[in-house]
Amino acid sequence: MPGKPDYYWQKSKDQGYPARSVWKLQEMQERFRLLDAGPHVLDLGCSPGSWSLMVLENLGGRGVLTGVDLDEPDAKLRSRPGFTFLQGDFMDPAVLASVVARGPFDVVLSDAAPSTSGNRIRDTERSLELGRAVLAAASACLRPGGNLALKIFQGGSERELLETLRAGFETTRAFKPKASRSESMETYFVALHRRAGSFTLAP
Ligand SMILES: C[S@@+](CC[C@H](N)C(=O)[O-])C[C@H]1O[C@@H](n2cnc3c(N)ncnc32)[C@H](O)[C@@H]1O
Repeated sequence: MPGKPDYYWQKSKDQGYPARSVWKLQEMQERFRLLDAGPHVLDLGCSPGSWSLMVLENLGGRGVLTGVDLDEPDAKLRSRPGFTFLQGDFMDPAVLASVVARGPFDVVLSDAAPSTSGNRIRDTERSLELGRAVLAAASACLRPGGNLALKIFQGGSERELLETLRAGFETTRAFKPKASRSESMETYFVALHRRAGSFTLAP
């Protein structure tokens, strides 16, 4: 687990979650009621699996969640009823086609992050590429009225994503959860109630 153990790390450990990131999603759920859009959820960059576990717990037996990651998730998640895992790069068109075929989804989540290199410009660019891929996926398989939340590293051209989301959703917010380390350049874009029609990325 990256980063120093802290209150959120200990709380995840105590409650059996494989990553402390679960408290970021918990906070977004309390604040924006993201998961209330319905039980069909897509989690892009789901491993080790805290977000997906929390979603399935939140939705009870109704939850049907598709998780995608380069790496296998925790065994605790893999054995959960309602969970399907697609291993691969969601920027790969063949993987994206398999994801879209499992839709439409009520909620699309992405906590995906590039492996950081220490070069802030390169890392924010790579995060933006992932963000663009998440928007392309959501445009193809999130139902009208559905909700989206994605992580992005600040400091690049992330404003273009925010503008695209503003056009495609009724409500859009940039949100830094308390559980996000203050030194981290991450933030989350939360977009609620997708409008009808596709949303197109700025060229
Ligand atoms: C911060 S972790 C996600 C933690 C997760 N939300 C949880 O609660 O356990 C980011 C994940 O994004 C995945 N990832 C990054 N780029 C990806 C890509 N292009 N396709 C699939 N997964 C990707 C990484 O492999 C990593 O597991």
